[in-house]
Amino acid sequence: MAKLEFHDELVRLRSILKEILPEPIFAHSERVSILAGELMTDRDADPAEAELIGLVHDVARHLTNSEWINEATRYGILIHSLEKNHPVLLHGPVGARHLKWKYSVESKQVLDGVYYHTFGYPTYNEASWAMFVADKIDPEKIIRNRALQPIAEMAADRNIPVTDIALAYTEFRVAEASTEGLEVHPLLLAARSFLSSKHVQLG
Ligand SMILES: [Fe+2]
Ligand SMILES: [Fe+2]
Repeated sequence: MAKLEFHDELVRLRSILKEILPEPIFAHSERVSILAGELMTDRDADPAEAELIGLVHDVARHLTNSEWINEATRYGILIHSLEKNHPVLLHGPVGARHLKWKYSVESKQVLDGVYYHTFGYPTYNEASWAMFVADKIDPEKIIRNRALQPIAEMAADRNIPVTDIALAYTEFRVAEASTEGLEVHPLLLAARSFLSSKHVQLG
């Protein structure tokens, strides 16, 4: 997808999201879009794709528990035991299906970016990792969880690649779950393993 096409899609989908999303989720989506674009621009990369994925990532965040379960079942999405207990974890996969089938989004990178945005994914490109990081360091989230402040500080340093910031976030979440005795989603572990192996390769 060319830069201009990302922008056209952003304009088209923005008016849809403004209609369907509750205001706080729409406002969060706009902040993530802008922040994801800035993370890319600061690292001399094109911001257009990250801005688009950031804008649409929470397209299904406003559904109810039963709607997430019903929609996931309808689309044939595998439901992990953690997701059965916390259906909100399905808002990424359901959102990606809605973007594809209700809102005619065709870009695989955009659809995969949205599908996996809660935990990250090994095949993510830089734009998706930028969206992932931006979603986690939305200033409203930092206010609710001050422990995320060091991640936000990493993001402000343009010499730190977005994959290193994403790795720090996944490590933070795994450590937090272990402290609290909570189960860790296998996708979070997969993302962390991928990001740490990439880190080793890059030296
Ligand atoms: Fe989300
Ligand atoms: Fe989000």
